[in-house]
Amino acid sequence: MSTTIEGNGDQVSIGVIGAGSLGETLGRQLARLGYVVSISNSRGPESLAALAAEIGAKPVSATEAARASDIVIVSIPTKAVTDLPRQLFANVPDSVIVVDTCNYHPELRDGRIDAIDRGMPDSEWVARQLGRPVIKAFNNIFASSLLNKGTPAGSPGRIALSAAGEQPDAKAAVLRLVEELGFDPVDAGGLNESWRQQTGAPAYCRDLDAAALRRALAEAEHSRIADYRAREEARIRQSMSAQAPQQSGSSLADSPSVRYQSPRTSRPFGGASK
Ligand SMILES: NC(=O)c1ccc[n+]([C@@H]2O[C@H](COP(=O)([O-])OP(=O)(O)OC[C@H]3O[C@@H](n4cnc5c(N)ncnc54)[C@H](OP(=O)(O)O)[C@@H]3O)[C@@H](O)[C@H]2O)c1
Repeated sequence: MSTTIEGNGDQVSIGVIGAGSLGETLGRQLARLGYVVSISNSRGPESLAALAAEIGAKPVSATEAARASDIVIVSIPTKAVTDLPRQLFANVPDSVIVVDTCNYHPELRDGRIDAIDRGMPDSEWVARQLGRPVIKAFNNIFASSLLNKGTPAGSPGRIALSAAGEQPDAKAAVLRLVEELGFDPVDAGGLNESWRQQTGAPAYCRDLDAAALRRALAEAEHSRIADYRAREEARIRQSMSAQAPQQSGSSLADSPSVRYQSPRTSRPFGGASK
């Protein structure tokens, strides 16, 4: 299948850093669309051989994913961003688009990050750690919806996805990916507005259509960022406890990953691929 994003060579290459629920799903769907996908995790390409073969991607290191791609999608726990190689984007051309899907979960997974707690948008913090501008996208849809709920343009009730960032061309390219993946694209403004699609906000993971998503982005209240996040973490904690009573004695804050769950289906969808 031909793709519409322009690459440096004949085909557009997309490197996914993170091969958990969301990274795997993005890799799988983008490979299906005809993109040349490489995928990486923290444990090295050997550990990804079977998954990569299944989804039609190349298993690589995070460095290779960053250096050999037209678009790099960072899809790892927020706290792990500082574990990425320091020179990850050294010598990577400015034209390479970096997408950030990360959500900050201080209680359940990431621990406290002061700058974000003081009000810096999650993705601005990620951009500073990476030393590169990022486009925030795919953070406000569950992997299960991304996998199963894409529909052709014009379908009634088609789910919309927003992207926020400063670089118009990069954002337009990401919004074209959104469209190709089966969702209506919505421009959510600059990175300074990206808090509107952060964890627990009205525009977060509610599978809204374009009109409803725009309304939800507009109605988000800046003073409630921490409250939105805390409520969502409480909701996740509750569903995790309900589904894993045997873990009730252990601290969910120590859990290596947040188990993303759709509030509608209560179907667990999360955890790194093993
Ligand atoms: N799952 C969802 O539905 C969803 C939806 C929207 C946004 N998000 C956000 O997207 C991000 C990824 O979520 P997820 O659910 O896919 O997480 P996950 O299932 O826990 O997977 C995390 C992935 O990140 C990799 N990773 C961790 N540290 C790394 C490092 N230093 N270098 C390279 N890879 C590293 C892990 O590799 P190893 O297993 O080898 O350690 C694993 O493949 C998170 O920030 C999450 O909050 C998730």
